[in-house]
Amino acid sequence: MNNKKFEQLSKYYLENQFDNNFPTVIKDTLGIDLTAKYGKFVLKNPVLVAPGQLTRERSQIERIKKAGYSGCVLKSVVGEDKNGNCSMINYRKKMTYLKTVYEEFDKEGAFPVITWNGAGDTRNLEQYLKFAEDVFSLYNENFLIVCSILCHLPEPDEEIKKEEWIYTVGKLYQIGYRIFEIDFCPGLKKETTLIEKNNILRWYKEIPLIIKSFFHEILVFPKIMNLDYGIDFQVKIVEETIKGKADGVVIGNRIFKEAINSAWGGKELRERNLTLIKEIKKNFPNLSISGTGGIYTGKHILDYLESGAENVQILSYILGKVKKEFLKKTGDKFDKVLYELFFNLENGLIITMLKRSSLKG
Ligand SMILES: Cc1cc2nc3c(=O)[nH]c(=O)nc-3n(C[C@H](O)[C@H](O)[C@H](O)COP(=O)(O)O)c2cc1C
Repeated sequence: MNNKKFEQLSKYYLENQFDNNFPTVIKDTLGIDLTAKYGKFVLKNPVLVAPGQLTRERSQIERIKKAGYSGCVLKSVVGEDKNGNCSMINYRKKMTYLKTVYEEFDKEGAFPVITWNGAGDTRNLEQYLKFAEDVFSLYNENFLIVCSILCHLPEPDEEIKKEEWIYTVGKLYQIGYRIFEIDFCPGLKKETTLIEKNNILRWYKEIPLIIKSFFHEILVFPKIMNLDYGIDFQVKIVEETIKGKADGVVIGNRIFKEAINSAWGGKELRERNLTLIKEIKKNFPNLSISGTGGIYTGKHILDYLESGAENVQILSYILGKVKKEFLKKTGDKFDKVLYELFFNLENGLIITMLKRSSLKG
């Protein structure tokens, strides 16, 4: 019965402009509650756009909101102290290439993976703050906007330059932002002197502590690096960041691959993340987790949610070149992807929820 009603809805949205109130329509028609959370913030559905090249400009954020995503995370800012010092200035690198690659199994070109010369935002703090202030007007109870930040990361025998973290977070806090991801970006893995186990554990503990001790209302979500030290070390990172009073974690950043000199995502990242999320949930059942990596279908979304993530963030599926034709022919890429994720009759989120709930009886 519900499947029939869903088919009608799916057909309706195929032909009509998505109204971004569709979660309410789903609730009223099928009794399925799509609301989700990011920490203490309620989301109208579980899908946000991840930080990156699609969250750098106001026009992009407007399109994300109009399409019906529940929010987005802004492209990571590379922070400064009040005198303009910026330790991570090398991360304000210009993008020199960005390529779509397809995995061996993906004959149809449906699951694009991005390779690029990864980095943070190229703007200085003053320029970035203008952007952040401008887009904050798009934030409301139906559309969450989260910040992402990268400031000084010390070498093993160096102190953390707290002023960079405090000044940058403080400026964004003044605008009104209350959730901060920390972008421990995958490219850091190349920096062998920094990437020392104890040093990494120190970052994950001390940086949230610094932010939380100055700004009590802020939620801090460090993005967990995908390193090659095994799952126990990944869980250890999470344990340290909890000691640092982090409010949750983002699982996880892409996997840096020496051979291609780029971070990698796709199936490998998704599978690694799902395993890690389940492991974290065994150890820390109440921890808030935002899941990101290798999501191309509603089934992938539900896998993340059932593993223990409370929301998901997507980038490559929207940014990459998708060769397989989208079902929806009207609207922009944000609309087409959202339609596939929720309304695809084979692997969309809603049909997968209906199928799995009928299996559970
Ligand atoms: C081109 C590009 C730029 C990105 N920029 C950022 C960034 O600024 N900050 C960040 O935390 N993650 C960044 N990421 C990681 C994404 O936010 C996302 O977590 C990751 O790509 C996994 O999701 P996906 O498989 O859907 O792309 C970037 C990824 C790509 C491909």
